[in-house]
Amino acid sequence: MNKRELIEKALEAKTHAYTPYSHFQVGAALMTGKGRVYQGCNIENAAYSPTVCAERSAFFKAVYEGEREFRAIAVTGSPEGESGGFAYPCGVCRQVMMEFCDPEKFLVIVARSPEDYEEYLLKELLPAGFGPKNLKA
Ligand code: THU
Repeated sequence: MNKRELIEKALEAKTHAYTPYSHFQVGAALMTGKGRVYQGCNIENAAYSPTVCAERSAFFKAVYEGEREFRAIAVTGSPEGESGGFAYPCGVCRQVMMEFCDPEKFLVIVARSPEDYEEYLLKELLPAGFGPKNLKA
């Protein structure tokens, strides 16, 4: 699957968002080391803080299924009723990426459409991040 197709999966995932409070919908498509794709959307909550972002819902689905190696994630977001926009991963989601991904290699694709996107390495979005390697002597 190429970048364009991964972005299309993120755009499709956005249609699953549950956003009765912010009315801001986000979709993510996470590609594993073997090329399998897990989609995620934001799922909000009346108590607000239990809300989960699209990126984390994709990661948690994949990790539950046993996946531990990831290549890239495409993310798109916009107010309800609008087409895709640039939605940059929040700090908590960047930290979850840091847990499972090599910051020198993992690609974050922030997309408005399959033709209009930006890409970053995780190390650019989370410089000097703290990860599992920091806990080893
Ligand atoms: N949101 C995401 O799903 N991903 C992000 O990277 C940024 C924010 C969601 C959380 C909440 O449901 C809505 O967008 C507004 O913050």
